[in-house]
Amino acid sequence: MSHERENWGSRFGFIMAAAGSAVGLGNIWRFPYLTGTSGGGAFILVYVLFALFVGLSVMLAEFTLGRYTAKAATGAYKQVSRQWTFVGFMGVLTALFIMGFYPVVGGWATAYIFKGFTGLLQHPEAVEDVFGAFISDPVQPLIWMVIYLALNIAIVIKGISGGIEKAGKVLMPTLFLLLVIIAIRGLTLPGASAGVSFLFKPDFSKLDGSVALAALGQAFFSLSLGMGCMITYGSFLAKTEDLKGNALIVTIMDTCIALLAGLAMFPAAFAYGVDPAAGPGLIFVVMPTVFANMGGLGQVFHVLFFIAFTVAALTSSISLMEVVVDYFIEQHHKTRKQAVLYTSIIMVIMCVLASLSLGVMADFHILGVGVFDFLDILTDKVYMAIGGMLLCLCVGWSVKKEDIYNEVTNNGELKFGLFGLWYGLIRFVNPILIAIVSVSGLIANENRALMIAGLASIGVMAIFSKKMS
Ligand code: PFF
Repeated sequence: MSHERENWGSRFGFIMAAAGSAVGLGNIWRFPYLTGTSGGGAFILVYVLFALFVGLSVMLAEFTLGRYTAKAATGAYKQVSRQWTFVGFMGVLTALFIMGFYPVVGGWATAYIFKGFTGLLQHPEAVEDVFGAFISDPVQPLIWMVIYLALNIAIVIKGISGGIEKAGKVLMPTLFLLLVIIAIRGLTLPGASAGVSFLFKPDFSKLDGSVALAALGQAFFSLSLGMGCMITYGSFLAKTEDLKGNALIVTIMDTCIALLAGLAMFPAAFAYGVDPAAGPGLIFVVMPTVFANMGGLGQVFHVLFFIAFTVAALTSSISLMEVVVDYFIEQHHKTRKQAVLYTSIIMVIMCVLASLSLGVMADFHILGVGVFDFLDILTDKVYMAIGGMLLCLCVGWSVKKEDIYNEVTNNGELKFGLFGLWYGLIRFVNPILIAIVSVSGLIANENRALMIAGLASIGVMAIFSKKMS
């Protein structure tokens, strides 16, 4: 199975790019606000367990399948068997749908860099209202979303090792350093300890099927799993690389950054009396409030923070875009430029609708929710979890065990004492666990109609799998 394939320039470059894909809005925007709305410590505990057991094993399976087939997601599944083609296609759809709202939030982050210069920090009491007015405006967020998308296009058009790798190498370490500094600042504020106990003292009465599914979906979202992104990245890995070592590093980095973002957010939120359950606006309210109360240095920190935040979002969204672009290149034989063009047009249309759904189009509902929430719930609560489950079934049951063993150990050159455990997780534990969590989440969730429709759409794709490209 030796295809000519562009490889990552270096191991560090690959890890930075894969971690760059994983670390993004999911860690810094979504994880803290979900923690806040899902009751704190109990959510975190379940999340960390899912990330370390389900997430890590699924990531290794994705790297393995990618390198084994040397194909991007759809091609990889198709190569195993045409019956699996739809899972790859579903992944492309997931990436496309996530990119229907991700650049909206990416645009907010970009805008907030500049809001540091336009008086936001002079009025800490108005920070919350400013955010609400900003995201519901019919024009402003659209402009920022387009700017943010343009940055993505510029990087993706350059191709894999040229654009993505260089971006990741410089920007990831910067982000890490900034979060550490901000967390230390938050922790030293008076009243911060309430935030620490909110984060680390689990209240299990808050735990139900809906919270468990939110934690599972978040683990997949945050680690970029269940939609073929890591299959695509794995397909560019050299045959000498240690897949499990790479998967372990990326998972640990991603989980640490999420926890670090929580540490940067909650102690400060409690110290300044911001409601931890404020929802999607949490970071855009807490951070400027912290910076506004810091005096002169606050502005510098604000600008640095939102630059790092935007960059983290960028290194993730370029990987999402890459999944769709690779699909057009490999399955429809388009040039990279054409593929980027088609992808961008679809994304802009969805993002405009998603952004407007938070303002002037708030009353337009699909299956009970606005466009932004529709795309979010469908991907995170349905497609990614089920995508992860199907990936496990594909790798665990449709590829020969011997082939998987050889791929993951580089033809026996690397030791993998836990192979049996991992293989068992992939074959049995993960699929059953994901099924249980999904069903209990479905029962407890208020958006049942949407989730059932999502599941039905997967069924339809499965039926037509063999006809897909
Ligand atoms: N993991 C990214 C984040 O946490 O922001 C989001 C993401 C990127 C999800 C790439 C899926 C993906 F394929």
